[in-house]
Amino acid sequence: METIKINASKTYDVLIGAGLLDEAGELIRKTAGGNAAVIVTDDNVAKLYAKRLYDSLAKNSYRITQFVFPHGESSKNAKTFLSLLDFLAEEKINRSDVVVALGGGVAGDLAGFVAATYMRGVRFVQMPTTLLAAVDSSVGGKTGINLKAGKNLAGAFYQPDLVLCDISTLSTLPPEVFRDGCAEVIKHGMIADRLLFESYKTPINTQLDKVIARNVEIKRGIVMEDEFEKGKRKLLNFGHTVGHAIELLSEYEISHGHAVAAGMAIETRAAFDMDLCDEKCLADLLQMLEKYGLPVNTSYKADELARACLSDKKRDGETLTMIFPLEIGNCALKEINVTELESIIQKGISA
Ligand SMILES: NC(=O)c1ccc[n+]([C@@H]2O[C@H](COP(=O)([O-])OP(=O)(O)OC[C@H]3O[C@@H](n4cnc5c(N)ncnc54)[C@H](O)[C@@H]3O)[C@@H](O)[C@H]2O)c1
Repeated sequence: METIKINASKTYDVLIGAGLLDEAGELIRKTAGGNAAVIVTDDNVAKLYAKRLYDSLAKNSYRITQFVFPHGESSKNAKTFLSLLDFLAEEKINRSDVVVALGGGVAGDLAGFVAATYMRGVRFVQMPTTLLAAVDSSVGGKTGINLKAGKNLAGAFYQPDLVLCDISTLSTLPPEVFRDGCAEVIKHGMIADRLLFESYKTPINTQLDKVIARNVEIKRGIVMEDEFEKGKRKLLNFGHTVGHAIELLSEYEISHGHAVAAGMAIETRAAFDMDLCDEKCLADLLQMLEKYGLPVNTSYKADELARACLSDKKRDGETLTMIFPLEIGNCALKEINVTELESIIQKGISA
């Protein structure tokens, strides 16, 4: 088992290994304490893994309640958020109790935002069951929900007390959900670690523990330097400017990871056109995305993508920060004027 310590506004461990689901009760008892535990999960994950978590918590004397919501991005909204807050109040959960997010990024983001806001903050444990959640969303403290205008427009920075990643749960992931996670691990390689990127030439699913641990280390490094996204943390948004626009335009029919993959390809084509990176960097990225069955373009037009981007929260007045690769393993932040956005996207979608 790997343990990675995160020193942010809260210090906590990320444990990565097989079988952690059955040890969760004991580990949560030691770290978070409390009398009651609320399992927050979606209907798919509930069927597969909630009972093992329930039994493990019960063995460790927790009063357990479960909040199960319909799977998918469309549940990450204000309605589910308010229902979950009401549920905690009805169950008389108090500040020393613990909310446990069991599932992918949707369960984690939603439960985390509720944990941050219910009674101004209750204890919170992340148990990621998708590759994307394991390497990205469960670590670093970003929580939130979508509003009609865009992704993650309401949220809070709220670090968990513990992250337990039972890698054996990833074995039941549908292939397209596994691919979503591949997009985020490719992103981490692109922004921070060329050797890691190269290592994906060996299939990611044959080296999961190693890949997850290195990806968590990369995210830790960035979060510890810039927890509240004043600068360096924005690098993690590589592919997300265009990616979020694709998600929004598709009304979330295109998943986050697939949208980010297309976003990275488009932003890198634009970078090549602007002489920020060379042709090999672009070719290597496209080849890696295609190897993992991820999209490298979109059928949306530059003007509609630009409009959707501008409803995104990452706009700052008349400028917006985009992330462009300089080479594999090294990306840079670049302030652009909103008036330039459409032409940059146009460069990126023209093959
Ligand atoms: N907070 C952050 O820093 C951060 C970072 C990246 C992404 N995100 C967010 O994460 C979300 C996407 O996360 P996701 O891709 O995990 O989506 P998700 O949570 O919707 O999970 C994808 C699907 O996989 C199913 N599933 C989950 N675990 C399973 C398992 N072990 N076996 C079988 N099926 C399983 C779910 O039921 C769901 O249908 C987006 O909302 C995105 O904005 C947040």
